[in-house]
Amino acid sequence: MLLKKYMKERDKNMENMIEVRNLKKCYKIPVRSKGMAATIKNLFHRKYDIKKAVDDISFSIKRGEVVGFIGPNGAGKSTTIKMLSGILYPDGGKVKSNGLVPFKQRKQYVKDIGVVFGQKSQLNWDLPLIESFELMRYIYKIPKEKYEANLEKFIKLLDMEEFINRPVRQLSLGQKMRGDIVAALLHSPKIVFFDEPTIGLDVVAKEKIREFVKYMNEKEETTIIFTTHDMQDIEKVCDRLIIIDSGKKVYDGSISEIKNIYANCKSIEVLYEDGRKEIKTFNVNETPMNVVMENLFAKSGIKDISIIEPEIDGIIRDIYEGRIKLPALEGCV
Ligand SMILES: Nc1ncnc2c1ncn2[C@@H]1O[C@H](COP(=O)(O)OP(=O)(O)OP(=O)(O)O)[C@@H](O)[C@H]1O
Ligand SMILES: [Mg+2]
Repeated sequence: MLLKKYMKERDKNMENMIEVRNLKKCYKIPVRSKGMAATIKNLFHRKYDIKKAVDDISFSIKRGEVVGFIGPNGAGKSTTIKMLSGILYPDGGKVKSNGLVPFKQRKQYVKDIGVVFGQKSQLNWDLPLIESFELMRYIYKIPKEKYEANLEKFIKLLDMEEFINRPVRQLSLGQKMRGDIVAALLHSPKIVFFDEPTIGLDVVAKEKIREFVKYMNEKEETTIIFTTHDMQDIEKVCDRLIIIDSGKKVYDGSISEIKNIYANCKSIEVLYEDGRKEIKTFNVNETPMNVVMENLFAKSGIKDISIIEPEIDGIIRDIYEGRIKLPALEGCV
């Protein structure tokens, strides 16, 4: 009996919480025309450019996973998050999350999700923070005991006692962000989408948010998708990393895996006397270090050379800038 219960629990834990198949989203961008005649003509036959923001992305996320979703500016991260949270409808493909189709069953779906946009606060500017929380309690019909228990816990974890009664407009960016996070989580959602929750924050505030997200995942088993441009966020919070670039998925795996793939990669930073700086990444298995050094010494005008061990920040930068090709790394560049 106990074994059966354990197996059931285990199978439940293996369930996919989110399934995304061949997801697509295009934006129609009006083309601006030059000259009066063209502008008038354009009024009747508007021309559009089509921007493929999300271009055939598939992945699954298991219950209780915390996944870092990264990529350069404009890669399609926020667009994907908006489709996963039901704010935007996809142009193609399928999304199933918590057993529902987000944009079709939005009313039912939002009861179990939380969304935090670091770039856009959802709090009421004029109300004291605590009243915004009360509003959430009303909107989500959160039972009193649950609301009070969550509020007490979150205020303590995020160190918010001092500013809870202040109007939102008087709060600092980091305080507001913490407020936004609490507002989005008071109803104990099963899935939380964080879109750049640490943007513009100092190291202390970032750390508080990371610890909080980790707590929610480990202790409350919340499934989390987290987008950021800060690799420390990813290293400290996420088990798994999905990288997207130009609307396509280019990596899906663990952080240690990506580090292992690149363990044989070294980068050399060359500083020239005229001030130019060059970073070269190469695979030591294919081009031994002495060969690289000999080639460099043959050049003139070099002021300084430093060898950079691949750190996650550097690896990701190299991937974004095309210096490292995924998934195979042969040769680097
Ligand atoms: N409402 C919109 N109308 C037209 N184009 C849009 C709209 N929203 C996003 N885009 C375009 O779609 C692409 C993907 O944008 P998205 O916001 O998803 O990127 P992102 O990965 O979140 O970038 P960032 O790291 O800068 O937040 C970009 O080229 C962007 O300019
Ligand atoms: Mg974004």
